[in-house]
Amino acid sequence: MAPEILSRLWTFFTQAIKGKDGTAGDGREKLVLKSVLEDAEKNPESVIKTIDKFASRCWLMNIGDDKGQLLDKAVGDRKPKVVLELGAYIGYSAVRISSQLEEGAKLISLEMNPANASTVRQVVEHAGLSDKVVVVEGILEDKIGEIKRLVQEMNAEIIDFVFIDHEKRYYLLDILLLKENGLIGKGTVLFADNMKLPGSQEYREYVSNKEVYDTVEHNTCIEYMRFLPDSVIISTLK
Ligand SMILES: C[S@@+](CC[C@H](N)C(=O)[O-])C[C@H]1O[C@@H](n2cnc3c(N)ncnc32)[C@H](O)[C@@H]1O
Repeated sequence: MAPEILSRLWTFFTQAIKGKDGTAGDGREKLVLKSVLEDAEKNPESVIKTIDKFASRCWLMNIGDDKGQLLDKAVGDRKPKVVLELGAYIGYSAVRISSQLEEGAKLISLEMNPANASTVRQVVEHAGLSDKVVVVEGILEDKIGEIKRLVQEMNAEIIDFVFIDHEKRYYLLDILLLKENGLIGKGTVLFADNMKLPGSQEYREYVSNKEVYDTVEHNTCIEYMRFLPDSVIISTLK
């Protein structure tokens, strides 16, 4: 087996064992940031390419290129004015999403781990996208007021697109919290990652209510691991 593949497999399993607090537990997030700052040109394409190249040797829990293309298409189809991302890690999806946004549109990127949030800001800045992204540090329950204020400042009534990619047990809870606070409504698209591995059964059941949501599941594979199945679920609020 090629050394690059062995290294990716090894780092996939070590993340599963050592991973904690939204990191892989071995400092790889600092290394990928260094690689972006030193090797990538200051544009979104080069930043994404540099991160994907790093992840081909050292596995990272980004959405990755296969599912990333589904995310790009969903954002492109919806043309959102306001996007909320739940779980930002090192900013890979933040770069993918914000580079698709039209003039004046913004991404609010929520990340609970302060070191990750700092990495996201630096990666987004290197990609030249800082004016399109607001990074909020914390969890939704504590930051719901701040997010409401940001949405109002953007002269929007609701969030048009939510990318759900954080702790699986919060998938449904956080969507219900956004709904209770009137932050999602008719036309909001919910894009949920990792719906096979590990998945969230209660979220799956919630968005399968055909009276409330139009829902489509796309079967695909785990980021940087084409032999492991995964899926994303895209739901539009009626
Ligand atoms: C799978 S990674 C996100 C990957 C990123 N969306 C991408 O595709 O590039 C999950 C991230 O969610 C964060 N996280 C976990 N639970 C969270 C929560 N309740 N609120 C906010 N962030 C959370 C973790 O710290 C971690 O950085």
